[in-house]
Amino acid sequence: MIRIGLLGLGTVGTGVVEILEKRQEELKFLTGEEIKIKKILVKDINKKRKIQLEENIITYDYDEILNHEDISIVVELTGDLEQGYRYIKAALESGKNIVTANKAVVSKYLEELSSLAAKKDLAFLYEASVGGGIPILKSLKEELALNKITEVEGILNGTCNYILTEMFNEELDYEEVLEVAQEMGYAEADSTADVKGYDTLRKLRILGTLAFQGEINENDILLEGISEIIPFDIEQIKKKESTIKLIGEVKELEDGFTALVQPTIIKEDSYFANVNNAFNSVVFRGDNVGELNFYGLGAGMLPTANAVLGDVIDIIKGSYRKGNPLGKRKLKNLNTKLKNEY
Ligand code: NAP
Ligand code: HSE
Repeated sequence: MIRIGLLGLGTVGTGVVEILEKRQEELKFLTGEEIKIKKILVKDINKKRKIQLEENIITYDYDEILNHEDISIVVELTGDLEQGYRYIKAALESGKNIVTANKAVVSKYLEELSSLAAKKDLAFLYEASVGGGIPILKSLKEELALNKITEVEGILNGTCNYILTEMFNEELDYEEVLEVAQEMGYAEADSTADVKGYDTLRKLRILGTLAFQGEINENDILLEGISEIIPFDIEQIKKKESTIKLIGEVKELEDGFTALVQPTIIKEDSYFANVNNAFNSVVFRGDNVGELNFYGLGAGMLPTANAVLGDVIDIIKGSYRKGNPLGKRKLKNLNTKLKNEY
């Protein structure tokens, strides 16, 4: 029996419990093990939960998970940046494998946590942190590892893409659509991370660092979000048979790299113009594979929980890339050059 400590029972945590319950048999077949959530850490112990839970499973004391010898995997789904980091670090230090969807933590502490996990011979997996239900990171770390990747480009935030799609198709106001995105469970607890572009920036930092095998930091990336876009802009863009998407891209040039996240006007018949609602897409350009496109739901309860459980399965089967997957290439930031060209 594999016992899990779950941190967070919001949108994604609830999805994890739901899939685990309905797919026990398949999980047993896939891993040869029964999987059980032993404890769930939450912030507000008195909150009414949407699902039926075993008695005494909920706790607000992390030590109950950390000191539980039988818990071998901690699944961190709190969305809290600094506390989430402390939870993950403490779990790794206590010999527990980690699965997280927390891109804020992964982005800020990627090098430190990857190296700690490798040193302890433990898993630190974060598939759900980029692209929701799309299996991008595993492909990047494993199937694409023989490529020299020179470009990563993507629509990486479901909330922004949903807002822009609705503003464009339904001529709705920004605030109205943001509320719906929150109700659908796409938006972060603090939605400024979505609409100001930080969430896309963090995902691009993770993707770029893994793809280019060298550190691309958050402050290496030029950033503009979608919060300043008004219906008048949309009208003007429509007149030009174009649309607008929040696109993140990192490109390797001969003498360094450029990295930016910005609302981008694109022709309505172009590839990214047809990625709508909460869908995400990432395009890689590699020397062996050429152009490779990933497309799917980038946010939401079940797609994200599915990615989380994919990592759990990989840990149980031991079928994940062992060691530190980060490369040590020194990359020169050419963004200043890019800025001057605007
Ligand atoms: P959420 O609905 O806001 O749920 C957060 C959960 O974590 C809640 O149960 C909350 O407890 C608990 N929590 C928050 N801070 C805590 C703390 N300091 N200690 C203990 N528990 C704490 O968030 P979510 O949408 O499920 O997202 C979870 C994570 O997945 C985030 O990192 C998010 O960025 C990431 N993610 C989300 C999506 C998505 O579509 N929603 C997609 C990909 C990745 P209470 O219930 O008691 O308040
Ligand atoms: N808030 C994020 C988004 C969740 O809208 O894309 C998925 O990472």
